[in-house]
Amino acid sequence: MTRLAGKNALITGAARGIGLAFAEAYIAEGARVMIGDIDITRAQAAASRIGAEAVALDVTDQASIDAAVAQTVDTFGQIDILVNNAAVFTAAPISEITEDDFATTFDINVKGTLFTLQAVARHMIDRGIKGRIINMASQAGRRGEPLVAVYCATKAAVISLTQSAGLNLIEHGINVNAISPGVVDGEHWDGVDVFFAKYENKAPGQKKAEVGAGVPFGRMGTSKDLVGMAVFLASSEANYIVAQTYNVDGGQWMS
Ligand SMILES: NC(=O)c1ccc[n+]([C@@H]2O[C@H](COP(=O)([O-])OP(=O)(O)OC[C@H]3O[C@@H](n4cnc5c(N)ncnc54)[C@H](O)[C@@H]3O)[C@@H](O)[C@H]2O)c1
Repeated sequence: MTRLAGKNALITGAARGIGLAFAEAYIAEGARVMIGDIDITRAQAAASRIGAEAVALDVTDQASIDAAVAQTVDTFGQIDILVNNAAVFTAAPISEITEDDFATTFDINVKGTLFTLQAVARHMIDRGIKGRIINMASQAGRRGEPLVAVYCATKAAVISLTQSAGLNLIEHGINVNAISPGVVDGEHWDGVDVFFAKYENKAPGQKKAEVGAGVPFGRMGTSKDLVGMAVFLASSEANYIVAQTYNVDGGQWMS
């Protein structure tokens, strides 16, 4: 398939997990992909395995964002697609949330998303590129959860930023949309499971089994379950879609 033939994509946080699955899917559709990740060793190993490029990127650091965007433009000529995928999870009861954890999580998930989006949008506007920006939200952004106040708030902010940026940038022909996964198995959820083992006294793996059983589809998602939406939103088939957040979650949330 060549739905993304000739397109160049920067995907943040794509050294593993969902971002890496998107990178592979975009390459299979004919795109060239730059993996931008704070874990450059893993990003380089992943890139050489799938035929992508890799660049060191810390989305909390403006100089790092600017350098990664510049290197992607130097390598490919231009950026047509940005996927703002880098994020971290955190959990704690309200009484135990710390200012440090709040700041770190908001810096990566919200500030990182906005200023990476801004840097790539400026490049697209300067060059007249009718590009695509896809933000990774979450069902956690659709409603609160008792132990997940900070992460939920960051993902609600990503949905809101998608709406505002989408409305602002469409005048330049840049479509901004988001994907809202539910529970996706992988290293991210291994970490989530550890938080719940601590705060809900669960055995390792128990929370995963419970959430999987609670998905209407009948199991947790996989990264591969999300790639169809990621390719679609990056393709010309999605030209008329602006400022939306799509649930790809096996039926967990309806909106
Ligand atoms: N896995 C799920 O169940 C799930 C559900 C809903 C939403 N999401 C969202 O989907 C996206 C991808 O999730 P995943 O499961 O692949 O996560 P993951 O934890 O497996 O991967 C996140 C990647 O981001 C990178 N990263 C962390 N901090 C960074 C920084 N400051 N700068 C650049 N890169 C950084 C990490 O090195 C890692 O490669 C995230 O936005 C996540 O919030 C995931």
